[in-house]
Amino acid sequence: MTTADAGTGRPRTVDVDCRRSGSRYLAYAPDVDSPWYQDLLVSPQATLQIEGVPHAARAVPLEGEERGVALHLLEVDAARGRAIADQLLVHHGELRKTLAAARAELDGEQSAQRDRPVLRRELLGHCVTFCNDLRMHHLREDGAFTAIQKAHPGLAPALDRLRQEHETVSRALRDLDELLQGKKEIESAALREEFDRVANGLEEHFAYEEANLLPALRGDGRTPP
Ligand SMILES: [Fe+2]
Ligand SMILES: [Fe+2]
Repeated sequence: MTTADAGTGRPRTVDVDCRRSGSRYLAYAPDVDSPWYQDLLVSPQATLQIEGVPHAARAVPLEGEERGVALHLLEVDAARGRAIADQLLVHHGELRKTLAAARAELDGEQSAQRDRPVLRRELLGHCVTFCNDLRMHHLREDGAFTAIQKAHPGLAPALDRLRQEHETVSRALRDLDELLQGKKEIESAALREEFDRVANGLEEHFAYEEANLLPALRGDGRTPP
């Protein structure tokens, strides 16, 4: 199970014993202070890997039980589909804003010839925040895609492409992170090139995701080509 760390918002992945009960999975924390249990009290969204398949789930604390939760797997009906579509756009908007801020910083540095270590520190800060937000976003999407595909089997090819892009993006982020963390001097042009590669790839990914998923999730009846 992956939760959002209640302190940092970063993904936290742990092995949890779950018992199936009807359409829910019941999970009990060893004690009330268990990090994943505390995470779920703050943010009830979780991603469960069940037999290698990611599932988006929502945790509801068990009544009269201090450290137990029922995990309800996401099911995409008409209302839920519209809610997912709205949420997707909000998250993409936030991620686009962070990307634009990082890009503006790079532009400023190139014209003002600012001290490179300072820039690198600022960019690194942006990158760490952005990378964590994006990792969480993609992780949750991978879980939601399972339910979306069940409700809209015609989306399978688009969802496959999006899943593959999530992996490509995660590799590109690791490269960029290494470049920024590295002690090796890097030319600001090289950094810019790498940044643009990641940013452009992401913008394409967001656009493809919106073009292919939003119509189906909003129920306008159009199946993407
Ligand atoms: Fe995505
Ligand atoms: Fe997305």
